[in-house]
Amino acid sequence: MTKALFINGSPRKNGNTAKLLLRAMDGASEAGAEVELVNLYDRNLNIKGCMSCFICKLKGGKKGVCSFKDDLLPILQKAVEADVLVCGSPCYCGYPTAGLRAFMERMEFPTVNYSDYSKPTVIKKIHSATIYTMNCPNEELYRMMNYDHLMDNSAMQLGVFGPTEILRSYDTYQFSDYGRFDAASFSPEHKAEMRDTQFPKDLQQAYELGIRLVKQVIAER
Ligand SMILES: Cc1cc2nc3c(=O)[nH]c(=O)nc-3n(C[C@H](O)[C@H](O)[C@H](O)COP(=O)(O)O)c2cc1C
Repeated sequence: MTKALFINGSPRKNGNTAKLLLRAMDGASEAGAEVELVNLYDRNLNIKGCMSCFICKLKGGKKGVCSFKDDLLPILQKAVEADVLVCGSPCYCGYPTAGLRAFMERMEFPTVNYSDYSKPTVIKKIHSATIYTMNCPNEELYRMMNYDHLMDNSAMQLGVFGPTEILRSYDTYQFSDYGRFDAASFSPEHKAEMRDTQFPKDLQQAYELGIRLVKQVIAER
């Protein structure tokens, strides 16, 4: 059975990022995968970034997967054993969220082989993707704001495990009621139009992404 794990790095369990991840999950499920979603910001979870314990670099230590014991540990163990991994995050101040960065640090650092950088310690090949959502209205501004370096570089770290891709959803609908907030830079009408016209297309892309990743895994068997 193909295992597909979805990591929501947004504090909102029903926000733009979660909605796209859920559509990608639908796609993966329909393509035959066993799917699971983890909300990194679940209030019951106590999660830290890399604690610099260096167990993953210790002579005779466990390699390729983080050993630091907190609530992220079982999630990381599932992630390195998954066939498909899809991470999602809003853009926060130009970066992926701190929660997703914590996950990424602890996914990636154990693969870094200090004895031979050209041979990362990868337990298993994973087909992966990262879904980003943001206010930023388009790819042109995304590049102008340097988000391609700040956000895409983080996402591309998953490439150490296998083929990886990025899906971006721009100009997302941030507030349920724009009238309640000091947010004069945004036109509520424009935001609603994007929500009703562009976001459904992004959802479709997420759905197709889920199908595609699972089909890639099945085709390689
Ligand atoms: C703390 C914070 C910082 C943000 N910073 C940015 C930013 O730098 N650039 C941007 O385009 N959007 C920014 N946004 C907007 C979110 O990325 C956007 O609304 C996103 O779709 C929210 O995802 P969610 O619905 O999954 O929570 C920010 C939102 C918050 C709450």
